[in-house]
Amino acid sequence: MLFSNTMKNRSRIHALRNAAFVAAAAALAVGFSGCNKKDAAASDEILIGHYGSLTGATATFGQSAQKGIEMAVDAINVSGGVLGKKLKVIVEDDQGKPEEAQTVVTKLINKDRVVALLGEIASSNSLAAAPVAQSSRIPMISPGSTNPKVTSVGDYIFRVCFIDPFQGQVMAKFAANTLKVKKVAILRDIKSDYSVGLANFFVEGFKGLGGEILSDESYSQGDKDFTAQLTALKGKNPEAIFVPGYYTEVGLIARQARKLGITVPLLGGDGWDSSKLWEIGGAALNGCFYSNHYSVDDPSPILQKFVADYKARYGKTSDSIPDAMAALGYDATLVLADAMKRAQSSKPDSIRMALAQTKGFMGVTGNTTLDENRNAVKPAVVLEVIVDEKGNGRNKFKESVSP
Ligand code: PHE
Repeated sequence: MLFSNTMKNRSRIHALRNAAFVAAAAALAVGFSGCNKKDAAASDEILIGHYGSLTGATATFGQSAQKGIEMAVDAINVSGGVLGKKLKVIVEDDQGKPEEAQTVVTKLINKDRVVALLGEIASSNSLAAAPVAQSSRIPMISPGSTNPKVTSVGDYIFRVCFIDPFQGQVMAKFAANTLKVKKVAILRDIKSDYSVGLANFFVEGFKGLGGEILSDESYSQGDKDFTAQLTALKGKNPEAIFVPGYYTEVGLIARQARKLGITVPLLGGDGWDSSKLWEIGGAALNGCFYSNHYSVDDPSPILQKFVADYKARYGKTSDSIPDAMAALGYDATLVLADAMKRAQSSKPDSIRMALAQTKGFMGVTGNTTLDENRNAVKPAVVLEVIVDEKGNGRNKFKESVSP
């Protein structure tokens, strides 16, 4: 894996852009003057970039996506690669921070000269980096960012997952129709575009089904103590609490809620999906539910083969069950390779045009068809969290909801 030195300010970014311009001009000059060995060697590979949180509070998002991407790249390369070339992924750690995401994507484009980007998972990070990809005309595929604004950045930005207006509706229906609760409280992360958006879509959906929102509390990513908000919520006696956050905070929230005597189910979205959730939240998470992109309980043969291959490859680590990011990272890579094959080209503009025409691509997370807004339309699943005393957890499939 390659890690970049972090560039701390925009002037460095501009310097890089200028340097890249000079480099491009030089390459052009070499091109005119005849053939050059370095070009010939480089052209055996197609370079793609992956930027994600390999460290930090959402580290499992980037790590899992990278595992899925590695598996897909190896599968593609073993069967001959793309257009007779091998795919090569350059990985950059953005530490789960939006500014870093922008910096590393600038580096991947201007220095490494990748033809396409995979990333990010967390919507705020995708939103920070997407304008760089868009203005540089490099196609970007987010495996898992579900906030609707991400692909609205422009026509070079795609995703292989559903979006939050749908995900919010799925959990609103689950609360109202399956759990049959009428009064819900919200606890949202106001630092996260994902959390704020998903909370709003849930509220809209739940009210539409006749439900009532008793209170709407907030926290900021990185917070450790949620006692004040939970105490306020408890006073309203909700029948469930919707917590559309990321696993680190959600795990702590679950523990602190139970400690305060809150016994009602906590509900959430895909941001819960991490084996770390079980470790952090422990048995406090029993009886809680969240929506997700896929379930390992799904008997689909392509999915079961992926689960088995993943375990064979990464099984020695604690997280041998592939989470949704691993599956989406895998599918995003296959969708990208498929677009290059259909385009018969690895030029960014040609890849973009072929990506926009992705229809019925069968992957681990189901069928990917990209709509006119470059979003995938896919079913969601609702999972129940089950954790034993030792913090060993699993997700039990409850239901699947089609768009
Ligand atoms: N959907 C989340 C976001 O947009 C990220 C995520 C995707 C988390 C898939 C877990 C699984 O921020």
